[in-house]
Amino acid sequence: MTPEPTATARSPRPSLQWSDGAVLVVDQRALPHEYRQLRLETVDQLVDAVRSLAVRGAPAIGLAGALGVAMSAFRHTRTGRLDESAVRADAARIASARPTAVNLAWAVERVLGVLGGGAQAVLDEALAMLDEDIAVNRAAIDQAADLVLSLTPDRPLRILTHCNTGRLATAALGTALGTIVELAERGRVEEVLVDETRPLLQGARLTTWELAEAGVPYRLCVDSAAPAAMARGLVDVVLVGADRIAVNGDVANKIGTYGLSVAAARHGIPFIVVAPESTRDPALPDGSGIVIEERSAHEVTHVAGTAVAPAGAGAYNPAFDVTPGELITAVVTEKETMRPAATRQRLGTELARFSR
Ligand code: MRU
Repeated sequence: MTPEPTATARSPRPSLQWSDGAVLVVDQRALPHEYRQLRLETVDQLVDAVRSLAVRGAPAIGLAGALGVAMSAFRHTRTGRLDESAVRADAARIASARPTAVNLAWAVERVLGVLGGGAQAVLDEALAMLDEDIAVNRAAIDQAADLVLSLTPDRPLRILTHCNTGRLATAALGTALGTIVELAERGRVEEVLVDETRPLLQGARLTTWELAEAGVPYRLCVDSAAPAAMARGLVDVVLVGADRIAVNGDVANKIGTYGLSVAAARHGIPFIVVAPESTRDPALPDGSGIVIEERSAHEVTHVAGTAVAPAGAGAYNPAFDVTPGELITAVVTEKETMRPAATRQRLGTELARFSR
């Protein structure tokens, strides 16, 4: 078992690293039972790690992708000459490993932008992106925490979250879960309700592990208990991450997020998305164009390797859904706080006035 790197207050534990020509990642499939690192030495291994969710979470797969292109650039440099077309072919494979989170294609494109400078330039860019991810998440976390406190009662909060948006899903700090940890550090968290997040249990396996590590009180619930918890007054705010944000504020995130937003709207509970700017897709006017990854039926018909459905059962297994902006109180990035619901309401009123 690999010992976990230690963290200091301002030097958080990294979930991805560059090490002697390879990419080191925390193997998220092994948690919570075992903390182990994977050493990815080839593009095939890296693509497989992304597809199998050893590395997962929109920012983390983007960073892994950028480091993967650097790895390819070094592999394809011989006697000082870099074979650009070979690297671009690897980059295309990496970028298409998972379709929904825009961070992956964005990160690969960004490092390809410096390919002309050689393998070291690509690596420098990828390493700069790791540092940037920490800085932008810090900024988004601080703004989101302030916003949550401005929208919620003046007492320790009951927060509901979905999937895993913590340090494992980013370079080191997390987005929505980073915000929860920040609120806890400010003494403002009574309890976190963690959706288990079927079928791959990112909430049950990873978010609980991170909350325990941070010393934040939590209880785990099955996904279908979340709306009931809201109805019973057990939730003050919902905080989630994002995989792709369209221009109008529609947000793709882990399957189940849309249902949470409907329940939160029904009960007047603030529903807040925290994500880096790199999760915004300026090419998509709204969420209808977001490609939703469909994963294997096996993930639904089996739990931890044991069949829970008759042999041959088919399954519908979208990994993500799209939450319309009108159900989102705020999308907080390092740069700004968007209020898609309020904007749409205002535009609706203006249009109604115009058409009268
Ligand atoms: O399939 P996953 O586990 O990669 O899905 C992850 C999510 O949906 C997260 O909420 C999202 O990527 C944000 S991570 C900061």
